[in-house]
Amino acid sequence: MLWRDDTSGASIALVRFQPGAGIPSRHSHASNQFMFCLRGRYTYVPPTGLTLTESSFYWNPKGSLHGPTRADEETVLLEIYDGPHYPTQPDWYSSSADAR
Ligand SMILES: [Fe+2]
Repeated sequence: MLWRDDTSGASIALVRFQPGAGIPSRHSHASNQFMFCLRGRYTYVPPTGLTLTESSFYWNPKGSLHGPTRADEETVLLEIYDGPHYPTQPDWYSSSADAR
């Protein structure tokens, strides 16, 4: 985590996925999410059907459904949220601290 505003829930983080790791379910966010791929290859499997590669930018609008996702190789993403990450804690997190 690089920066977080606990009042608004906004944050900036570097996220690293090992090959084969990802987000297991289709979901949406409670704010706008911005991703910049620093390295690797990160796929939003169909129906989203988008692959981020080095220097790709992705804006995921608040409330839009996307995922699941899979890192095709080790991937590092700069991830920015302009508010809280999720409307409710997703079932793939066991800790509310990890889901914020
Ligand atoms: Fe997401």
